Amino acid sequence: MKWSKEARAHIISGCYAQWGINNKKVLDVGCGDALVSEIISRDLNLDLHGTDILDYRKKDIKFKVMESPDRLPFESSSFDLVMLNDILHHTQNIEGLILEAKRVGGQILIFEDCESMFLKSIDLVLNYFYCRHMPCPLNFKTEYEWIELFKKLNLNYVSGKPEYPWWYPLRHMVFKLN
Ligand SMILES: C[S@@+](CC[C@H](N)C(=O)[O-])C[C@H]1O[C@@H](n2cnc3c(N)ncnc32)[C@H](O)[C@@H]1O
Repeated sequence: MKWSKEARAHIISGCYAQWGINNKKVLDVGCGDALVSEIISRDLNLDLHGTDILDYRKKDIKFKVMESPDRLPFESSSFDLVMLNDILHHTQNIEGLILEAKRVGGQILIFEDCESMFLKSIDLVLNYFYCRHMPCPLNFKTEYEWIELFKKLNLNYVSGKPEYPWWYPLRHMVFKLN
């Protein structure tokens, strides 16, 4: 699965690059094994920090474990921006985590799976084989539902446009919030 993670990391960094985030101090919330974080960080030359409810890093990035799934273990305004890559649909308290991201960083970058039965099924199978420890409520939202949530939280948003290699099967929504 290393090749698919690498491809996903380059799709994410290609999309975030359009927002000029090079050289920023960035927190990756839900960084997981940190393989994707580390590639994004290299592509965009970031000062990378990670956090997750579990520590199963395979890359030695700066890291703090979260003691609560709803609270980021950092002071307010500690980062220039916060990334939430493929994590919100795995959380119970989506609103709370977005507000926490806003508290610790000025801007928020979100990369989320598109909502579809097909993708949900793929996610369930992948999570079963590769991340059995991971909470999996699969709280997918449509683009409309994400945008309604950002409005409710009084966050301004712009949407990004990921570019995919021809063989890549999954599709995503990307947002920058501030
Ligand atoms: C599908 S993995 C994505 C990992 C990594 N961001 C990536 O793109 O490869 C989802 C991650 O979210 C983490 N997670 C689940 N609930 C969380 C929460 N409330 N706060 C932070 N991380 C959480 C899981 O432990 C897991 O590492």
